Amino acid sequence: MLTDDFGRTIDYLRISVTDRCDLRCSYCIPKGFRNFEVPKNWLTFDEIKRVVTAFSKLGTRHFRLTGGEPLLRKNFTELAYDLSQITGVEDLSVTTNGTQLAKYADSLYKAGVQRLNVSLDSLRQECVEEISGCDSLNKVLTGLKVAKEVGFEKIKINMVPLPNQNINDIENMIEFCIEHHFVLRLIEAMPMGVTGQNTQYVDLQKVITELKTKFNLTPSVKVMGSGPARYWQTPNQEFSLGLITPMSQHFCATCNRVRLSVDGTLYMCLGQNNSIHLRPLLRDNCTDEELESTIKQAIKLKPEAHNFLDNPTQIIRIMSATGG
Ligand code: GTP
Ligand code: 5AD
Ligand code: SF4
Repeated sequence: MLTDDFGRTIDYLRISVTDRCDLRCSYCIPKGFRNFEVPKNWLTFDEIKRVVTAFSKLGTRHFRLTGGEPLLRKNFTELAYDLSQITGVEDLSVTTNGTQLAKYADSLYKAGVQRLNVSLDSLRQECVEEISGCDSLNKVLTGLKVAKEVGFEKIKINMVPLPNQNINDIENMIEFCIEHHFVLRLIEAMPMGVTGQNTQYVDLQKVITELKTKFNLTPSVKVMGSGPARYWQTPNQEFSLGLITPMSQHFCATCNRVRLSVDGTLYMCLGQNNSIHLRPLLRDNCTDEELESTIKQAIKLKPEAHNFLDNPTQIIRIMSATGG
């Protein structure tokens, strides 16, 4: 089992398979951004499989494929299938923006992907367009419908509330999720990359005070995934609302995860720069033992907490590079 210097067990690896995306959400990728990683620096599928095998040997059980938009990576479902076959991969999930879900949901499900998180910030077309730079709403709604039909249960919708944009859409989103049996998670925007400097977060402690009265929500103790959300539920327990509050009440003391970016950098924390580069090692024909011992050493670099509040401009990489 991997443990860090603060006594935390690391059993969740998030893997960004591409930093590219077909959307340009304002809090994630700046408009006109072109500086994406070049293909020769992308970890190949075999390299990703080696890293996943090493982590699973070291006790990691939860693996999430992200991006950018992971479904843009060619033959992505084949990678998902191969990863699902690795001993120790008990929980394989995908975070997607949903624009290609109608096409790929069935093959993802058959490939062994167990859980899907889908980003959607509003049900109003003009608002989605304003935030993401694209009129993607209908594609995402169709994708969600298909994903449910092919068998995905308890799909989670990730919404990043932004002042003056979609903050008043939260109640509509709750009603939509109740109707369609989705879990809704609200995420406080973090100051990542160049977009971070202009991104204001909505304090979810204030939002929940109103919502809990209106929807009769109570805190839930159910474990609903591997991430940092804290859940609330309706009295019949059929609807759950997750709050992800890195800014107003961070969850670093219970952090269980590290992140692999498309270029093979293993980041110890979303909000710090501590990292090691695995690609040179992988391309230098390292042994499995060398790879595993490098990962163990890397975990010792994991910082105690992020530093978004004291130093909001220090993370120069954009969110899509590390995959949320
Ligand atoms: P579940 O297994 O369903 O709980 O997944 P998850 O919440 O870990 O995955 P998802 O990709 O949906 O992540 C949701 C968002 O939570 C991320 O995009 C980040 O914005 C935020 N988040 C997840 N992990 C961390 C973390 O370690 N630190 C911070 N600051 N934010 C995180
Ligand atoms: N702060 C918080 N969440 C973000 N996401 C992307 N950028 C940010 C940010 N700056 C979220 C997306 C998506 C998930 C992968 O990351 O909404 O749901
Ligand atoms: Fe793309 Fe997701 Fe970033 Fe939006 S949040 S630009 S969908 S990677």
